[in-house]
Amino acid sequence: TRNGIEFAVADLEAAEFGRKEIRLAEHEMPGLMALRREYAEVYPLRGARVSGSLHMTVQTAVLIETLVALGAEVRWASCNIFSTQDHAAAAVVVGPHGTTEEPKGVPVFAWKGESLEEYWWCTEKMLTWDGEGPNMILDDGGDATMLVHKGTEFEKAGVVPSPDEDTSDEFRVFLQLLSASVAADTGKWTKIGEGIRGVTEETTTGVLRLYQLAAAGELLFPAINVNDAVTKSKFDNRYGIRHSLIDGINRGTDVLIGGKVAVVCGYGDVGKGAAESLRGQGARVIVTEIDPICALQAVMDGYQVKKLENVLGEADIIITTTGNKDVVLIEHMARMKHQAILGNIGHFDNELDMAGLQRYPGIRRINIKPQVDEWVFPDGKSIIVLSEGRLLNLGNATGHPSFVMSNSFSNQVIAQIELFTKHEEYDKEVFRLPKKLDEKVAKIHLDALGGELTKLTKDQAEYIDVDVEGPFKTDHYRY
Ligand code: NAI
Repeated sequence: TRNGIEFAVADLEAAEFGRKEIRLAEHEMPGLMALRREYAEVYPLRGARVSGSLHMTVQTAVLIETLVALGAEVRWASCNIFSTQDHAAAAVVVGPHGTTEEPKGVPVFAWKGESLEEYWWCTEKMLTWDGEGPNMILDDGGDATMLVHKGTEFEKAGVVPSPDEDTSDEFRVFLQLLSASVAADTGKWTKIGEGIRGVTEETTTGVLRLYQLAAAGELLFPAINVNDAVTKSKFDNRYGIRHSLIDGINRGTDVLIGGKVAVVCGYGDVGKGAAESLRGQGARVIVTEIDPICALQAVMDGYQVKKLENVLGEADIIITTTGNKDVVLIEHMARMKHQAILGNIGHFDNELDMAGLQRYPGIRRINIKPQVDEWVFPDGKSIIVLSEGRLLNLGNATGHPSFVMSNSFSNQVIAQIELFTKHEEYDKEVFRLPKKLDEKVAKIHLDALGGELTKLTKDQAEYIDVDVEGPFKTDHYRY
């Protein structure tokens, strides 16, 4: 705690560098800056206590300071152990008007390279306010939401289930944290859950968890699915990945991508961006898919579609983008080429069988540098694994660039305002933002890029049955 602000970051002295990058990022985030201007005198988030769990990057710093500009109090943690940019975290604590001696910003609990214990400690800190708890969650991947839900569930039951053999390390540590808190019998999580007006969720994986909770009737508060705003998933997941995937591979390995064979597992929004990114460098890209529609899209886009087991002998780079588990198993890894690169860009590390790799008899791990490991098999063959199987664009590089995140985060801010100010109008279900707002976010960013939009005549609008001012598409239109 310094100047009344609690925080845990790597190095507060890095704040000045962080502030310079935040200043440059602000210019590249026209959506967030437009929202600051639009609500300058209104403070729609006054009274909001936002607990945020989202990669603590420079772009996220601009998001956090936008929430503050709109009146919110904020506490923050990263949603991944490797994704924090330490200078951004420091700058957010110091704030635009503070100094390292007298910080005036926001409590942040995040640093690059947390252990799992530290990760969950940070997440708990971010949700633990002095006095009243948070009344809003801003989540990416659903860990903060899960903590509140599981905490409430276990407090009701009075026990925390013991981990079994299949429990991942991540979840084991999570259960330990809850065991201590449930044993203390303070009803902490139940109270936090009751105080929350809503959650806005950033990514595909977190949204899936929310729909599962809603279907089971277990959702404790309303949720807005930000991911499925068109200006989020069709831009961040795709064009963001197109930028940041090769950034991660390059910073991690510096291997020439041109001429290599790259396998992309999954051809959803992230997979499409990943394949394009690698092809743009001159790689020959092969796609694996389970869904015939996405597989056919990949073929039509000019990629080969194959089963993973049939291309292991030629793959120089394998990237998972599925949001599913057990996609690259240890038996696949053992058959990969010498010094082939393996990385995941989906939300969780369970896309790769990292546990199987660690347990492989005679395996040896050589750490090359942070977030780059060479795993040497007993026969001398090795593979290079990026970010220990966690999302490599944020682990090995700095994630998506500002402009694309401005689209995503504009939707986040709009969703926060919506749920905070109108929570009584929402049931405990998962909602999406109206298309009109999606179009508004697109318009701001189109203008910033100098795009010229054609205006419908009244006659034309009637002919295609839309309003001259939009929305221009039906809800089932797929873009
Ligand atoms: P999506 O649902 O559009 O795409 C996933 C694709 O993987 C689907 O087409 C599905 O059919 C396919 N798939 C599922 N299981 C498979 C298997 N066993 N083998 C091959 N293909 C399989 O989801 P989206 O939006 O592309 O997101 C994917 C993941 O990336 C999610 O975990 C999401 O949270 C994460 N994400 C990560 C970002 C980052 O910056 N690293 C940014 C945005 C999303």
